[in-house]
Amino acid sequence: MPMLARPVSSQTPDDETTHFGYKTIKREDKEKMVGGVFSSVASNYDLMNDVMSMGVHRLWKNHFINRLDAGMRPGSNRPLDFLDVAGGTGDIAFGLLEHAEKRFNDRASTMTIADINPDMLREGELRYQSTKWNDGSDRVNFLVQNGETMDQIEDNSKDVYTIAFGIRNFTNIQAGLDTAYRILRPGGIFACLEFSQVDNAAIDYIYQAYSFSLLPLMGQLIANDRDSYQYLVESIRKFPKQEEFKGMIEKAGFYVPEKGYENLTFGVASIHIGVKL
Ligand SMILES: C[S@@+](CC[C@H](N)C(=O)[O-])C[C@H]1O[C@@H](n2cnc3c(N)ncnc32)[C@H](O)[C@@H]1O
Repeated sequence: MPMLARPVSSQTPDDETTHFGYKTIKREDKEKMVGGVFSSVASNYDLMNDVMSMGVHRLWKNHFINRLDAGMRPGSNRPLDFLDVAGGTGDIAFGLLEHAEKRFNDRASTMTIADINPDMLREGELRYQSTKWNDGSDRVNFLVQNGETMDQIEDNSKDVYTIAFGIRNFTNIQAGLDTAYRILRPGGIFACLEFSQVDNAAIDYIYQAYSFSLLPLMGQLIANDRDSYQYLVESIRKFPKQEEFKGMIEKAGFYVPEKGYENLTFGVASIHIGVKL
């Protein structure tokens, strides 16, 4: 079966370089370049997600939220502290709060939505203005933070750490996982939804053909921004495979229950869970 796409650079990243999609760049440049991509896509982000995934990202996100089944249980008197990192426009954060209320009548747990990019976070804040959580209670707050360091978040201060389609953009993914471990309380849950590697060769061929030819074209036609969508597609291919990412979560100190991950849609995306014991 022919390869549909190859890295434009064969250089292997070292201590001073890293990936930006298929390009090898200086590590110090990555944060700024990723920032440029998300500032560029911010205002079209929700629409493009729906168009490009044909709505499937909503099914994955709903499944992720239902699987976590998080919320203050009846009889408990301590609300949970949620943290959604790389929270962008807030799909996961608002979904988690809605779930907690519907399932457990939890109207007290708090949510911090953190993102490195003020433009993405602003889209989330705009959405928040018209939600029921904008009731003056300060249950939801927004924070511009690099997920690799999260220096405004104290050690052992959060119960649930979520990150959806964010961690593959980090310059140092292991640092992000180590930080997740640092800020979770013992018993806290780390949950990641991320694009992954398809486990079936024939389906992977079709998926690659779709993503490498159609997605950048859609980016160009709908958002007039081919390059950002080219990066998003390439960054998916550079992200560690399921088993490797599971090993990184364990390396950060988490206990990984069962198989450690769940593939969604043949592995197009996957959910990884870790528990801080
Ligand atoms: C594809 S969007 C995902 C947004 C949202 N979680 C969702 O699922 O719709 C990726 C987000 O990761 C953010 N991001 C990238 N690098 C980051 C970092 N080092 N720390 C925090 N957020 C980061 C981007 O700014 C962007 O908002």
